[in-house]
Amino acid sequence: MKRPLAAGNWKMNGTATDLAEAQAIAQIQAKASCEVLICPPATLLSKVADLGVAVGGQDCHSAGAGAHTGDISAAMLADAGARYVILGHSERRADHGETDALVRAKATAAQAAGLAPIVCVGETLAQREAQETLAVIGAQLDGSLPADATGLVVAYEPVWAIGTGKVPTLDQIAEVHQFMQTRLAEIFGTSAEDIRMLYGGSVKAANAAQIFAVPGVDGALVGGASLKSGDFAGIIAALDAA
Ligand code: PGA
Repeated sequence: MKRPLAAGNWKMNGTATDLAEAQAIAQIQAKASCEVLICPPATLLSKVADLGVAVGGQDCHSAGAGAHTGDISAAMLADAGARYVILGHSERRADHGETDALVRAKATAAQAAGLAPIVCVGETLAQREAQETLAVIGAQLDGSLPADATGLVVAYEPVWAIGTGKVPTLDQIAEVHQFMQTRLAEIFGTSAEDIRMLYGGSVKAANAAQIFAVPGVDGALVGGASLKSGDFAGIIAALDAA
């Protein structure tokens, strides 16, 4: 049985004043039956972890240590209290030119440091309109995932739905999650059964219940609506009720 996961991605948002939101999320987490995770900026990681919330990084380097100014290793994230790390987010793929091969190397490094990788995949609007969605996602899964499924979480995040208020139809989400389930089984065999598949992209309290009712959706990766504890609480409640 997979435990549903509500993961908040704070992106490049949050300073010490926002710890009050994390504190409130810690209290919500204590009562929730789903797993709750915050991925704050690296500067807040240990502070949020100290509040008792499960935390994750938003990226890591593929190397264990060394001359990589400005980067953070998976072991450093783990040392700061992280249990997860988001990898291959479309903003990293777009802003930093991250390739599938690099994402795979990072995911492998994350597992070696004891972190659970949350690997993101998703099509652009142009790719969806060209009916390339499943081909794009298949290629991203084939290229970005680590060799074994330990701790692995996969997030389907259509690029055009991130931060836009646009959400795919429930049939579109179902189609992609069904496709991913089949592809993960082809790649990992029976160990694919433990891989949680999140949906991400403009998830709000108002649409969460419908999305969580879609077969194959095991939770959400939430950006904007994870920044305010009240908004995130609505999503967590919807996941608990699903
Ligand atoms: P959003 O972001 O919820 O603000 O659309 C989701 C994400 O990028 O993970």
